[in-house]
Amino acid sequence: MRAVVYKGPFEVAIEQVDNPRIQHPNDVIVRVTSTAICGSDLHMYEGRTAAEPGIVFGHENLGVIEETGEGVTSLSRGDRVVMPFNVACGFCKNCTAGFTGFCLTVNPGFAGGAYGYVAMGPFVGGQAEYVRVPYADFNCLKLPEGTEKETDFVLLADIFPTGYHGNELADVRPGESVAVYGGGPVGLMAAYSAMLRGASKVFVVDRVAERLQKAEEIGAVPINFTEGDAAQQIKEQTGGEGTDKGIDAVGYQAVAHGEDREEPAIVLNSLVETVRPTGALGIPGLYVPRDPGGPDEQAKQGMLLVSIGRAFEKGLRMGTGQCNVKRYNRQLRDLIIEGRATPSFVVSHELPLDQAPTAYEKFDKRVEGYTKVVLHPHE
Ligand SMILES: NC(=O)c1ccc[n+]([C@@H]2O[C@H](COP(=O)([O-])OP(=O)(O)OC[C@H]3O[C@@H](n4cnc5c(N)ncnc54)[C@H](O)[C@@H]3O)[C@@H](O)[C@H]2O)c1
Ligand SMILES: [Zn+2]
Ligand SMILES: [Zn+2]
Repeated sequence: MRAVVYKGPFEVAIEQVDNPRIQHPNDVIVRVTSTAICGSDLHMYEGRTAAEPGIVFGHENLGVIEETGEGVTSLSRGDRVVMPFNVACGFCKNCTAGFTGFCLTVNPGFAGGAYGYVAMGPFVGGQAEYVRVPYADFNCLKLPEGTEKETDFVLLADIFPTGYHGNELADVRPGESVAVYGGGPVGLMAAYSAMLRGASKVFVVDRVAERLQKAEEIGAVPINFTEGDAAQQIKEQTGGEGTDKGIDAVGYQAVAHGEDREEPAIVLNSLVETVRPTGALGIPGLYVPRDPGGPDEQAKQGMLLVSIGRAFEKGLRMGTGQCNVKRYNRQLRDLIIEGRATPSFVVSHELPLDQAPTAYEKFDKRVEGYTKVVLHPHE
């Protein structure tokens, strides 16, 4: 079958690889109809990780079940399903507590597994014609038959739940104000989720015009960080107080304000300034224990200069980590089915799989409005 294969920094190719096969009675094989490219894929694409050439990318997968293992009980051939990017067993200590992003059994020596991702276990990615799903009864979320709302549903694999998770970590409640740093797919989903949860005022901070425009279209207040300190701009619009809650949807690739160089701690420090005393921060943006591309020796070891003293002084709570997608995906699916959520506004491009190399290049450069790309392997 054809698949998106990592060749080395800034290069992916469409190559022929072996078709996946059932390896365990609770596996299914899914014929992938939609699979999205993620900001997290770019970390590997840019050569910032230990990802080896040859890895098949793709952790945001939706498709139709082609084949079921003999132990699968709740799924049948022909079912349309979307899979959390987390591969999880369903029975370990963390999974049973709802922390499926930190499964203890699928990826020995590490808490958490994912498809097509470095250090996240042996699970081949789904930017391909077919994908194998382990513990399928647990990991597949059934969708209505047909092809309706496919572009909304594929976002249930990662970014819609992840944006929602940012709100959960920040404990966003009705009537509160929220500052979201990052207007990429995760940031836009975080802002959208804040509104679903009844936030009164939502700010989105970025510098990319199309992204700020999308934020404005959904009713958020766009803040361009190249036009002055973001925390200051937000304080001016909240009576000098700052927001109740803050979400980091940028991660360690944060860019310094006013300059074009990376400053990995800048968003964390801006959030500490932006959020009012006793507020809370949700940090779904990715930080890593090692960053070969870090700007200094400490950053290379994943250690950043964050003003914890200021956070203490303000009594801020913080939460971070991978999204436990399964904790929210059923409820978010039902909001889509009932027409109360339409996250697909974030999707800028739908392309056949063969165009993945160009799509990666443009998405990486954030040009031509590339915000979120969905690939269709069978078109
Ligand atoms: N926790 C999880 O489970 C999870 C899941 C998916 C993605 N992520 C992470 O979430 C982050 C965002 O993902 P994405 O796909 O939206 O990525 P993205 O790269 O498309 O978006 C990040 C945005 O941040 C903006 N930005 C850069 N510096 C900034 C600054 N100083 N202030 C404000 N904005 C700034 C960029 O212009 C960009 O638009 C990434 O770190 C990704 O790895 C985490
Ligand atoms: Zn993703
Ligand atoms: Zn588990």
